[in-house]
Amino acid sequence: MKVLLIGSGGREHALAWKIAQSPLLDALYAAPGNPGIADHATLVALNVEDHAAVIAFAKEKAIDFVVIGPEAPLVAGLADDLRAAGIATFGPSKAAAQLEGSKGFTKDLCARYDIPTGAYQRFKSAEPARDYVREQGAPIVIKADGLAAGKGVTVAMTEAEALAAIDECFDGAFGTAGAEVVVEAFLDGEEASFFCLSDGKTALALATAQDHKRVGDGDTGPNTGGMGAYSPAPVMTPAMVERTMKEIIEPTISGMAKDGNPFSGVFFAGLMITAKGPELIEYNVRFGDPECQVLMMRLKSDLLPILYATATGTLDKVQAEWRDDAALTVVLASKGYPGAYDKNTPIAHVPEASAEAKVFHAGTALKDGKLVATGGRVLNVTALGKDVTEAQARAYALTDRVEWENGFCRRDIGWQAVAREKA
Ligand code: AMP
Ligand code: GLY
Repeated sequence: MKVLLIGSGGREHALAWKIAQSPLLDALYAAPGNPGIADHATLVALNVEDHAAVIAFAKEKAIDFVVIGPEAPLVAGLADDLRAAGIATFGPSKAAAQLEGSKGFTKDLCARYDIPTGAYQRFKSAEPARDYVREQGAPIVIKADGLAAGKGVTVAMTEAEALAAIDECFDGAFGTAGAEVVVEAFLDGEEASFFCLSDGKTALALATAQDHKRVGDGDTGPNTGGMGAYSPAPVMTPAMVERTMKEIIEPTISGMAKDGNPFSGVFFAGLMITAKGPELIEYNVRFGDPECQVLMMRLKSDLLPILYATATGTLDKVQAEWRDDAALTVVLASKGYPGAYDKNTPIAHVPEASAEAKVFHAGTALKDGKLVATGGRVLNVTALGKDVTEAQARAYALTDRVEWENGFCRRDIGWQAVAREKA
């Protein structure tokens, strides 16, 4: 099979690394890719916003299957256009990608199909939103409706904070993404991420993970795209996974199909495990970054036939086998991230992979043959272990061998799981 992978982050490096191990693979291309992905794929300088160019490349190379990594091309309808051109594609349609692209869309789906989530209202102007907040009181959550790079959510512990967040959205802090606002009840509990594939009819549960969104140790400082993750998430017991499938995933699949938007791709469900059980915080319609890196390290099965079955409606014919080991990834970011940071800082050394540890590339590039950091999140040092404690020790041992002066990382990724394992 000839495969084209779309994307250039740590998530796509992990997908490329795993796809490249498939005996079914004849050739792997990545657009635009990164220097880490180049170890497994031929990089192609395509503008992925130019759907006609992507299709023309796929036809020229007789690509059998396209795997789309990030959300932006999905929300822009790249999967629809590829499928219309007769090319099998992993990733949801533009209509189904609204599950990630519009928080209001997802909340309305939950309301229609009785999927547990926080009570909410949607607003197109500030005044009624403010009234609703005054009526409900704090804590309460304010969300820009559209894609806001993970920054459009304010968990307001006071009414004043909530009112300020509403003004910020309607004053244009998130551009068009904030033209509509969802105000939502605060859910109390432990967060977990759950990954599940669907071909529109069948669901295949993958695995669970926990992310670390704050930039600083002890979960302090501003939110980021994710500073590290581990899998599995201990709060997601087999019973909780079963409830999530029955109460959240299955009604989503049937509801989306009933509404005329069948979902094909990966559900990345952000869950709050409350006293009542699992409740949906949000859906993403692609693998998490850096959650994908820990999932790929733990997946024993060949990824390629699983993704292909998802895209071609034969998910009932495949299974996914997982290692019992835990996996943990530490994100090395440019100093200053998630604020401003220097670009093109030199990375002098990236240690070699071993059987149980590997460094995935995210925001890296080659300049005059030398590796440099070009992004906020730059390297993902990922390791397996018999438990999170061991995976954490291995990941940090490898992290300490990376030579990059402008890099920093959190030193406590996995702290909740490690504390549990000590108890
Ligand atoms: P989201 O972008 O929707 O994942 O929200 C970002 C973060 O805000 C989540 O990971 C949660 O930590 C928090 N959050 C979102 N919605 C709620 C809620 N209803 N109750 C409590 N925390 C929330
Ligand atoms: N790590 C969170 C995300 O991929 O959205």
